[in-house]
Amino acid sequence: MTITCTEDFRQLYKARVPKMFYDYAESGSYSESTFRRNESDFARLNIRQRVGVDISEIDTSARMAGEAAALPVAFAPVGMLGIQNIGGEIKVAKAAQQFGVPFILSTMSIASVEEVAEATGAPFWFQLYVVKDREFVHDLIHRAKAAGCSQLVVTMDLAMLGQRHKDVKNGLSIKPGLKNLINIATKPRWAYDMVTGPKLSFGNVVGHAKGVDDLASLLTWAAEMVDPALDWDDVAWICKEWGGPVILKGVMDVEDARIAADMGIETIVVSNHGGRQLDGAGSSISWLPQIADAVGDRVELILDSGVRTGMDIFRARALGASGVLLGRAMVYALGAMGQPGIEKLLTLLEKELRTTMGLAGKTRAGDIGRSDIYRA
Ligand code: GLV
Repeated sequence: MTITCTEDFRQLYKARVPKMFYDYAESGSYSESTFRRNESDFARLNIRQRVGVDISEIDTSARMAGEAAALPVAFAPVGMLGIQNIGGEIKVAKAAQQFGVPFILSTMSIASVEEVAEATGAPFWFQLYVVKDREFVHDLIHRAKAAGCSQLVVTMDLAMLGQRHKDVKNGLSIKPGLKNLINIATKPRWAYDMVTGPKLSFGNVVGHAKGVDDLASLLTWAAEMVDPALDWDDVAWICKEWGGPVILKGVMDVEDARIAADMGIETIVVSNHGGRQLDGAGSSISWLPQIADAVGDRVELILDSGVRTGMDIFRARALGASGVLLGRAMVYALGAMGQPGIEKLLTLLEKELRTTMGLAGKTRAGDIGRSDIYRA
């Protein structure tokens, strides 16, 4: 199959990875209305076509959270990348490093923050879940600091879990039942890698949180550890412990963005968690302009949820984001082809963004603005 776009990666990923892990990635909570809206709302934003501009030199580089990026793109924190493809976190981190875009390691990763730091030797960003066990949170913040992570990304929108029906039905677990075993038998490439590779663990949690020794117990731990008490005082505490730049992920409201700005937070990720949390929430892209109007002069905004193309990256920049996070697109490319898949994804997106910028008459990512977009 000749891969020409993100959708091709999705199809190949679906063919190569067991259904329960495909379903884990390709699902939203409850009716999945927000999951779908994230993508369809992007498609409704028209881009102005311009001509007669010298577009022989196009610069797609940007700054995200104050760091240089070759593209206005960072890889989103996604749990269990190392199950989608063996060594997944390190493969994505290396491809990101080579290309020059940020990688965000999830708390729920297979490789630990120390392992990723050792394999890449470069600063990456670390995503923090604020769980009930605050001693664990405290230690994790300091482990990320010791590993040299340059930004702490605090997830705010998982103080309660949105149910994804497919995960419940699949009994998501690496101790597979008969139905899952039959499906795994049809995915020889994935099964071979997993059987011959190192034993899977949950590097940030196993050995650090009590009673966690496999995927099933990790998921139970994660569900029980979700802390509904997470509030702004916790954010202040985290900022103090971390002592460096903090990015708040999952802000979807003007009032919340103002609170964050008043606290001195420098960067916000406008995100509805890929439609995996509050079903019925508006799309992330539909909220971006309002949040930009309210706090854009004080806070940098990054857009997450629904980004699949270079055209979407252009649209997010036009509406006020410094860049985007890629979650599912990354999982598709990784699950389909491993590290070369991520490298190819970045190349494709760069070309799509470059072409979009050129045909819209923009030669620098910094010149893309709201007047480049109109609603259908
Ligand atoms: C957890 O963050 C998930 O979306 O599965």
